Amino acid sequence: MPEPTVQRGLEDVVALESSLCFIDGRGGRLIYRGYDIRDLAANATFEEVAYLLWYGQLPNRGQLDELRQRLVMLRTLPPELLTILDRLPTTSSPMDVLRTAVSALALLEPTESQPGVTSIGGALRLTAALPSILGYYHRRRSGQPAPPTHPELSHAAYVLAVLRNGPIAPLDEKAMDVALTLHADHELNASTFAARVTASTLSDLYSAITSAIGTLKGPLHGGANERVMELLEEIQLPERTEEVVKAKLARHERIMGFGHRVYKVEDPRATILRDWSHRVGEEKGNLSYYDRLRRVEEVVHREKGLYPNVDLYSGSVYTLLDIPKDLFTPVFAVSRVTGWTAHVLEEYQDLRLIRPTSNYVGPTDLTYVPIDARP
Ligand code: ACO
Repeated sequence: MPEPTVQRGLEDVVALESSLCFIDGRGGRLIYRGYDIRDLAANATFEEVAYLLWYGQLPNRGQLDELRQRLVMLRTLPPELLTILDRLPTTSSPMDVLRTAVSALALLEPTESQPGVTSIGGALRLTAALPSILGYYHRRRSGQPAPPTHPELSHAAYVLAVLRNGPIAPLDEKAMDVALTLHADHELNASTFAARVTASTLSDLYSAITSAIGTLKGPLHGGANERVMELLEEIQLPERTEEVVKAKLARHERIMGFGHRVYKVEDPRATILRDWSHRVGEEKGNLSYYDRLRRVEEVVHREKGLYPNVDLYSGSVYTLLDIPKDLFTPVFAVSRVTGWTAHVLEEYQDLRLIRPTSNYVGPTDLTYVPIDARP
């Protein structure tokens, strides 16, 4: 029998059926539960999108109010978790803090972290807790007191309130809300797959989200927008763009924020974020990020034919919103936790252990050699 072909990186392998998210990689469309991302980004709030992902339909006013209230109540963290956070080095990467905190929360909330639990209580808890964890850690490392839970604020405004100081302008809140909506789900991306693999063993929701956070951390996935901002720092002046980008390509370096496993055209999230990078930049009188990014886009498309992905413009929006660079990927997790949890709940409803195989390419006929007889 011929050896089965290896699909490196599981590229184009269809692993399961899902009714959560559809990516049309050639048409450049992204759909959450039937709704186009452009429609949702323009009209829905992040809380509505979270409800849509968890329950499969948009909420009516009463359902949305109830969801908001539950999320607000769940912003408070248990004191035992705060004690753990107080012991972590203030130099820790916020993604490591998030991963550790979610794992620790499972020990403190054994009911929500039961294996195979199909209620959305844990999903709500984690969605509400992630900004609180980040805010607590960020304030502590900056020598500031713990942030209040701000019950009057929307989820997007709460994220801004705990991660930076100062008043929140309506445009800032809307920009953050759109960014959260755009990152909420994305089919079987690496971190969602990691969450589903963990859930498919009948492990618990908190373990699945811990796996997902660890997977999102990598620069080929969630960490790319930080690297995009580093590229802009290196470029400094727009007129240096061509030289810096071409030199990187000549060294066969990847330009972060470009290319995608599924999209063969522009990522629709990049289109929306480009617009927001311009809107927020204009409002704040700083279009320098936008201008440099447009030039980077032009050079990378000309030289490599690559299109931008969601990470190209998100970092510029966060920077304009005063979010520190090492919190960009954690903000991604703050949003994606809705998609991760929705996928885990879906996995529990149609559970099949995810366990691919590999082609063994090593020897099979070696004989054990006693240690003293080895060269
Ligand atoms: N810069 C330069 N060249 C690139 C880039 C890039 N960003 N992306 C792909 N290429 C090139 C590769 O070098 C390769 O060229 P080759 O055939 O001459 O060797 C070709 O395009 C195909 O690349 P693959 O790595 O096979 O494509 P894959 O589908 O595995 O990659 C990925 C997808 C990992 C996102 C890739 O495009 C990349 O590394 N991009 C930069 C990192 C990034 O922006 N990540 C965020 C993705 S979106 C998200 O996760 C939220």
